[in-house]
Amino acid sequence: MVSEKTSGIISGTSDSSRFEPPWHYATEESGLKEGNLHLVEIDGKGILFIKKEDQIYAFSNTCPHARCPLDRGTLEAHVLKCICHGRRFDIRTGECLNDSLELKKVEWKLEGGKIGVKIEE
Ligand code: FES
Repeated sequence: MVSEKTSGIISGTSDSSRFEPPWHYATEESGLKEGNLHLVEIDGKGILFIKKEDQIYAFSNTCPHARCPLDRGTLEAHVLKCICHGRRFDIRTGECLNDSLELKKVEWKLEGGKIGVKIEE
């Protein structure tokens, strides 16, 4: 089961036809809007997609500091700021600008306009 949230809209989809485990359908490429924090939940795992300057980034939605949901943060240029304690992360590298923490990257691929993510069971 996949559910998505972008700018407060939640919708459910179930198109997994193009992806075989460990790959899972996540979202449509066309659904990613520049600079938005786009949350997709797959079997209870939150995946945060960010499209910035035509690049797509995907991370675990869990902040590596104290596990706050990163989709509630803010994006300014290429810097994602966590809402809880203000850690700032460069989305191009995943590195924290405050300390040695790092965002957990999620492997993704694009097939026919659909984005799949690799989730190991
Ligand atoms: S949980 Fe994200 S900065 Fe603390």
